[in-house]
Amino acid sequence: MRRPMIAGNWKMNTTAAEAETLVRGLCSLVADVTDVDILVAPPFVYLQLVKALIADSPVALAAQDMSPEKSGPWTGEVSGPMLKDVGCTYVIIGHSERRQFFFETDESVNKKVHAALNEGLAPIVCVGETLEERKKGVTLSLVGRQVKNGLAEVTAGHASEVTIAYEPLWAIGTGVTASPEEAEEVHSAIREVLRELFGADIVGNMRILYGGSVKPDNVDELMSRPNIDGALVGGASLTAESFARIVRFEAIS
Ligand code: PGA
Repeated sequence: MRRPMIAGNWKMNTTAAEAETLVRGLCSLVADVTDVDILVAPPFVYLQLVKALIADSPVALAAQDMSPEKSGPWTGEVSGPMLKDVGCTYVIIGHSERRQFFFETDESVNKKVHAALNEGLAPIVCVGETLEERKKGVTLSLVGRQVKNGLAEVTAGHASEVTIAYEPLWAIGTGVTASPEEAEEVHSAIREVLRELFGADIVGNMRILYGGSVKPDNVDELMSRPNIDGALVGGASLTAESFARIVRFEAIS
């Protein structure tokens, strides 16, 4: 079965001192967790600091974005080799805030996915629809297209390193969560697309996270759905207690 993954996306938050307090608190609260992949994605400038603090803990390090290029004249960018160098094992790619405010497209997402895989970084590829798109009834076709385009030319051999995060834009940072039924509908459609791309054996190992206002009080119900394998958590990952409670979700059977 798929191992659950709970990832905290700190976005552009914390000072160095706050990052240290947060990660120390988290590590002590989840020290005994062995059955969940726990990730934190701090801002680039704190990756090394956080890496040192998570040594000997079950917490792994993720970046929030990466350049598709390896090195060179790309002012302000951070490359895959640099992320590996500081101890990242995962990288979030195509978050809706990158798509919305930094004009990322499925094509740029796809380039970054390949750059990550070539570097041995496991990509977490974000997809999701706006409220207008949901109202128009195009959610499943749009999300399916984002998955197909984002993963274009990814081989079946690499596919199980890829995680998809379904994050409806209307649920991110709004306090409104997709209902477990709404999320499950999209997750199972995504799994179908992945099955077409990579085949039944591989899709069984691929994780699909839900993101968008995941909190301690809604994670249990979400995690009870068969195609929801974890969560990408923004706001609630900024407090050690709430993130640790999300890590310790209890699926309701
Ligand atoms: P949120 O953010 O949990 O604050 O809604 C989720 C995300 O953007 O990954």
